[in-house]
Parts: sequence; C-alpha cells; structure tokens
Amino acid sequence: MKAAQPAPLHAALTMTASHACAQVLRPALDPTPDQLAATAARARHQQRLAGKVAVVTGIGSGIGRGIALMFARQGARVVGCDIDAAALAATLATAKTEGLDLQGHAALDLTVEGGADRLMAAAVARHGGIDILVNAAAFCVFEPVDRMSLDGWRNSLRGELDIVFLACRAAWPHLVARGGGAILNFASVNAYMALDGSAAVAHCAGKGGVLAMTRQLAMEGGPHGIRANTISPGFIVTGATRRHLDAVPTLVDEVLRKKMIRRVGQPDDIAWAATFLCSDEASWVTASDFGVDGGARAW
Ligand SMILES: NC(=O)c1ccc[n+]([C@@H]2O[C@H](COP(=O)([O-])OP(=O)(O)OC[C@H]3O[C@@H](n4cnc5c(N)ncnc54)[C@H](O)[C@@H]3O)[C@@H](O)[C@H]2O)c1
Repeated sequence: MKAAQPAPLHAALTMTASHACAQVLRPALDPTPDQLAATAARARHQQRLAGKVAVVTGIGSGIGRGIALMFARQGARVVGCDIDAAALAATLATAKTEGLDLQGHAALDLTVEGGADRLMAAAVARHGGIDILVNAAAFCVFEPVDRMSLDGWRNSLRGELDIVFLACRAAWPHLVARGGGAILNFASVNAYMALDGSAAVAHCAGKGGVLAMTRQLAMEGGPHGIRANTISPGFIVTGATRRHLDAVPTLVDEVLRKKMIRRVGQPDDIAWAATFLCSDEASWVTASDFGVDGGARAW
C-alpha cells in the first residue's frame, strides 16, 4: 500500500492588512483539516514506533499533544499527563476517534515530589515498562529582569527545570530495567540567542539549563543504553505562543523575518523530528540538540 502523501503545510497565504501595499504575504497560522488528516495517515502507515511504550508529559497542548498523537499513530502505546484536565480530555477524545492507544492522567502535578513517579508507575503497571520519555510539559513567567520577582524567577525554574529533572529521575530506573531507551527534552532557540523585545530572561536560563542537563543525562545514560537528546524548536503555534500572538499583532511578522522557511512552525514539525529521535533509527544519536526552527538560529 502506498503511504498517503501529506499536502504541503501552509500552502494557503493571506495578505496582511498592514502590509497590503507592499504585497507582503503571510502564511496561514494553522494547517487545514485536510493537511492534518494527511499527516496522520502517513504516520499510521509508517509504524516507526511499533512495540514501544512512550510516556509524554504535557499532552493537553501544543508540542506534547502533537507528539502524543504522532507516537500513537506510529504504533507506540502512549501514556501521557497534563495538569489541565479539560485540555487533556480533548487530546484523549481526538485519540479515541482515531482508535489510538493513548492513556492520560490529569490529577498530578509534575513539579511536586512524587507526581512524576506516579505517572511512571501507571505506565509500567499498564504496559510492563517504559522505552521513551518525552518532557513537553513546561511553564514560565515572562518578565524583564527589572520586573521579575524572586518568586517569579523560582517558579519559572520549577516550570522549566524541576519539571524535567523530576520526570527523568522517575523514569530512569524503568529505562535501566528495560536495557535502555530514549529521553527527549525541549531546549529552545532561546538557549542560544537573545531575543530583542522579549521578556525571556527566566526562559533563557531554563532552556540553557535543559540543554546542559540533557547532555549530562546522555553521559550518565550511555552505559545503560539510555539516549538523551533535545530539540530546540523555533516559534511553534501552541497554547503557550497563541496567547502572545493574540496579544501582540505584529509578533507574527517579527517571527517570520527570522525564518528561512517563511512560515511559523506547527506541533507536527516537532513531532516528526521527535519520532526519529525516539525510534531505533536514532540508536547512535545521543547528547545532541536538533534545531527545528525554519532556519532561525543560523543568522
Ligand atoms: N511553542 C514554542 O514556540 C516553543 C519554542 C521553543 C521551545 N518550546 C518548548 O517546548 C515545550 C512545549 O511547549 P508548548 O508551546 O507546547 O507548551 P504549552 O504551554 O502549549 O503546553 C504545555 C503543557 O504542559 C502542561 N503543564 C504545565 N505545567 C504542568 C505540570 N506541573 N504538570 C503537568 N502538566 C503541566 C500545560 O497544562 C500545557 O498543556 C516547552 O518546554 C517549551 O518551552 C516551545
């Protein structure tokens, strides 16, 4: 059987009102239902994660949701969580309509001691082990340095670093018991570059931390067959960034100015890279950071 070919994302272009005279074309922010369906069909055909058990955090929104659905379409048995019960339910409903193997847990906070341990225990109880951990859950306070309170700073590091560390620590013995596995964390373009006009001082600190922490996890995991990598996404349209897009009408044009591929990113752009990094195709890839950003970090 021939795989369904996805239509090119963001083929549709709209002219921005403010730039109409200059004929500046702005790509659509969201893929069409047909494009999403074609991507889903292609993933179901591939089955690149068949036989794997994957734990994905933050599946109620954006990148976590995209990866949970992609991994389940690729044949993985997926266990996820989100602190936002309604958002989690929406992802599970989508999975159900497609007949995907995706379970979700709402009543746990990944930033408190024991939360991630309960999630891993649930995955092991259901599926007998864990092969993949993807840490997509995160939150951060965006304030410039002179307005950032110490509480806001510490809360950001809980949402960027504690949330990743605690899940990695909780999954670790299960990955060791399995004889190895894959951890995928999220750094960012912000781990490398300052952003003009962005109140991202805590976010940059957190993402630099994720990058360095993941390299060390890879070192400690090597003898156990555990690989650890990061993806550094460029601007992806998700629950988190949609709020900024709505609040700052000029933001999308600023974002597009830095893209060699002139469109914004989608969760599926990240989910395809995540599929590779968490599959056996990437069995010699560890301690790496993959930029998936339309070329933004190169100039
Ligand atoms: N969207 C982007 O443009 C972008 C760019 C670079 C890096 N990233 C990184 O990618 C990752 C995913 O980003 P996103 O934009 O999809 O985020 P998002 O805010 O859309 O989704 C994160 C999810 O995590 C959940 N969550 C937050 N705290 C939790 C907790 N304590 N316990 C359980 N669940 C919790 C939220 O409810 C939310 O559903 C993050 O690490 C983010 O920093 C995103």
